[in-house]
Amino acid sequence: MPPLRQVKRYKTNCYKNQPFVSLFQLKFQVSESETFRIKLLTMENETNNSAQSNGKNCLKKTKDNSQYREQTYWEERFQTEDEYEWLCTYNDLKDFIKRDLKKEDKIIILGCGNSTFSSDLCDAGFSNVTSVDFSTAVINAMRKKYESSHPTLQWIVSDVRNLKEIPNNMFDVVIDKACLDALVCDEGDPWEPNVRTKTDVDSTLTSVVRILKPENSAFISIGFQQPHFRKRYLQFQGSNYGWEQNIVTSNINVGMGYFYTHCKLNVINESSI
Ligand SMILES: C[S@@+](CC[C@H](N)C(=O)[O-])C[C@H]1O[C@@H](n2cnc3c(N)ncnc32)[C@H](O)[C@@H]1O
Repeated sequence: MPPLRQVKRYKTNCYKNQPFVSLFQLKFQVSESETFRIKLLTMENETNNSAQSNGKNCLKKTKDNSQYREQTYWEERFQTEDEYEWLCTYNDLKDFIKRDLKKEDKIIILGCGNSTFSSDLCDAGFSNVTSVDFSTAVINAMRKKYESSHPTLQWIVSDVRNLKEIPNNMFDVVIDKACLDALVCDEGDPWEPNVRTKTDVDSTLTSVVRILKPENSAFISIGFQQPHFRKRYLQFQGSNYGWEQNIVTSNINVGMGYFYTHCKLNVINESSI
């Protein structure tokens, strides 16, 4: 087969109000009559677009995407930003959530930021929700904001790469909404991500498995990264997280389209016990 020829490359800068997402489309010529396109979503520089925020100066221009993985970037941003919803809202996800979660589940949200997702879950009847973020500023602000309206919500400062404040085998469900996206924002070549990114994601997923109950629990990852590339992390070579045979990705049809990946851990079929 002759080598593929790239015939066109499109780039859409800062799609609508999703500041860290850019779309690349690569068009390849397979034969004289056939072409195919690959869509690549990448994190890109922010703009001053603040359509989804009620914060002040919440979206400063950044010099490069790698800032999204830095604690100092988020601490500074949360000094002035009150509320911001990345990628999609609870409402966009509610059908998946109702399908996959039980009201009594113990749920933890990774990298909660100042999104309303945790309180939205609580309003929908999921009363056992813990939220973590490595920014002390945002965790203090969220605790204060919700202490009287949503007293059952728990807020903990923790780095998802070790989650050392969280005991083992505690949760039925771990939810990542755009937190892994921040960790992979500077991965380099998505086919061969750099060592730092692979190490950070592996430590995060190892910590996720540690805090999940050992059986019939689940990790849910909501993000913009194309399923093929997200799965490479979820099935990282040599790893054995326990969900490898039970990963199902669905499309979230909002904005430019995101992905909901449900990873069931060590599924035990009760009828076979
Ligand atoms: C893109 S925002 C997503 C915020 C929120 N989950 C949402 O959907 O709107 C990424 C969040 O992850 C947090 N974060 C990034 N790296 C982290 C880490 N290593 N440990 C804990 N939180 C982290 C940031 O502070 C930020 O709040």
